[in-house]
Amino acid sequence: MSKTIVSLPGDGIGPEVTAEAVRVLEALPLDVEVAEHAFGGAAIDAFGDPLPAETLEACKAADAVLLGAVGGPQWSGPVRPEAGLIGLRKELDVYANLRPAVGDGVDLLIVRELVGGLYYGARGVRDDGVVFDTCEYHPDQVIRLARRAFELARTRSGKLLSVDKSNVLETSRMWRRVVTALGEEYPDVELKHGLVDSIAMLLVMDPSSFDTLVMENTFGDILSDVAAGVTGGLGLASSASLGDSNPGIFEPVHGSAPDIAGTGAANPTGMLRSLALLLEHGLGEPALARAVESAVTRAIEETPTRDLGGTATTSEFGSAVLAALSSGVPA
Ligand code: NAD
Ligand code: IPM
Ligand code: MN
Repeated sequence: MSKTIVSLPGDGIGPEVTAEAVRVLEALPLDVEVAEHAFGGAAIDAFGDPLPAETLEACKAADAVLLGAVGGPQWSGPVRPEAGLIGLRKELDVYANLRPAVGDGVDLLIVRELVGGLYYGARGVRDDGVVFDTCEYHPDQVIRLARRAFELARTRSGKLLSVDKSNVLETSRMWRRVVTALGEEYPDVELKHGLVDSIAMLLVMDPSSFDTLVMENTFGDILSDVAAGVTGGLGLASSASLGDSNPGIFEPVHGSAPDIAGTGAANPTGMLRSLALLLEHGLGEPALARAVESAVTRAIEETPTRDLGGTATTSEFGSAVLAALSSGVPA
């Protein structure tokens, strides 16, 4: 039976990198239908809503969601494109955000909690003018995420580093307690804990010493950009946002990059690697995922984009990936 992929190109370079991923997806020996829907700033302009009901229904009914990027300076009013992304993650309950960082001797995986913490806690303005956001977690939210992380660590080196700020924060103390207790169920995984500030420093100084890391939403947002930075930049970084039964969202780590939108300078690697994650986790096609990854690696070597010191445009890079795929890259 044909599978349905909902594509949400979004804003800025989002549509540019999504177009390359869709080209590659449609060239694969798969029975898939790609349905594009309005999202982010583009959906605010068309419908006054960054996550229109029709888009949300299509995502819920899909086999997987391929997402470009949202945001831009022209949407800085009360209705923001980013609210669409935050809403979609919550609606699909994709609580586990896998953010691999690979390259230059580094091969690490950040497992970021995606539907809790500061992004979703109580917020507002008090009568005295104080503005507040609150970081809230229920232990069950930590358990389900940490379970994913232990299981992923098992498929890698068997080491798991849990990152928190338990020297200061109440949520972090609970986080460390819960992860430590769950660790009893995974005696084959070597569990360690680290404080987020010193881990940020070590990620810059010694990134190859890391394997699997698990952390709450905001820490994961920040450290995944750090991890991208030490492996070659945001253009390379991919992610998979997974829940238990709903379709996953597959999106690059980078944003809409308004500074380079429309210039052909966007590197579609982060998006193409997210497509590989979609093939593996969303469609259960690991061999095709490996083929796409290998083709992307070859294109990085032979046809690099400007951020990597080359001259290839977004679509020239996409064509190089297609050429590598059709010449049968070694898996
Ligand atoms: P950004 O990730 O868009 O860009 C940061 C820097 O990295 C820029 O200099 C940009 O040119 C460069 N860059 C990013 N992706 C690249 C690529 N594929 N190839 C080459 N260079 C690339 O972050 P920002 O500028 O801080 O944010 C811009 C907008 O994107 C904001 O509105 C933000 O909220 C939004 N954003 C969205 C997402 C998402 O949709 N998932 C993620 C992050 C930021
Ligand atoms: C990311 C982005 C988003 C986040 C924003 C755009 C809501 O920075 O996916 O990393 O903070 O999660
Ligand atoms: Mn981010």
